[in-house]
Amino acid sequence: MSLSGSLLNAFPLSQPIGVFDSGLGGLTVLQALRARLPGEDFIYFADTHHLPYGDKSESFIQARSKAIATALTERGAKAVVVACNTATAAAAELIRAAIPKPVVALEPAVKPAAALTQSGVLGVLATTRTLVSRRFAHLVETYAHHLFVLPQACPGLAEAIEAEGPHSASVERLLDIYVPPLARAGADVVVLGCTHYPWVKAGIAARLPSGVTLVDTGEAVARQVERRLMRESGLGGRGQLQLMTSGDPVHVRNTIARLCGVSMHVTHWDIR
Ligand code: DGL
Repeated sequence: MSLSGSLLNAFPLSQPIGVFDSGLGGLTVLQALRARLPGEDFIYFADTHHLPYGDKSESFIQARSKAIATALTERGAKAVVVACNTATAAAAELIRAAIPKPVVALEPAVKPAAALTQSGVLGVLATTRTLVSRRFAHLVETYAHHLFVLPQACPGLAEAIEAEGPHSASVERLLDIYVPPLARAGADVVVLGCTHYPWVKAGIAARLPSGVTLVDTGEAVARQVERRLMRESGLGGRGQLQLMTSGDPVHVRNTIARLCGVSMHVTHWDIR
């Protein structure tokens, strides 16, 4: 994956689309957004200092998500994309109530997966916090109540992807624990219910029988953002991108280089 075509701009963008995640998983969504909306400006905020969200309390994630969405709006964002399943599960409604801008949130792709399965067995890889949420229970009840849904929490995986890289021994070890149970249960469709997991798609696929379909949400979210902008705030920008983090910008820049193969400027932003 790459963020090719990215321009960087040290100055505030006038009407960017704000995108955030607990870390760099949301870059998998940003790539789909930039591919679909190349003329838009984006500001991406990685809440690296608080990664992972998946093991934190609901109230903590709600407070962070609200603060970040508000800060992005105050910085001029014309729309906010919650590029994190965990933040959506805990805080989507809260964010929508807090800011007067279009909010597009993403959730595990259970609906499209339910339409694809032949075996009737769906695997869902996600964070603990996403899988125990009321929102996830509702999603399964609505679209997959007639199927066997196997939720597999993956503690440690998002951090290992960022800290040690998608091909590291720690990631391989975690995938060896989390993926084989889905294969044994006969899942023919596996939902990547965390935006970090597309970074390890090949490693997941390698542990499943060939022919198993992996589903993620990046492109569907990009289409939804396009529809909302056309209806509500309008399209237009200069194709620029700002990357910001609550963590150490040098560390984040190095992690982006490892994940995307490009060197990007990253700025610290202390959102409280
Ligand atoms: N990328 C986030 C998601 O989509 C989760 C990673 C984390 O645990 O912070 O759920």
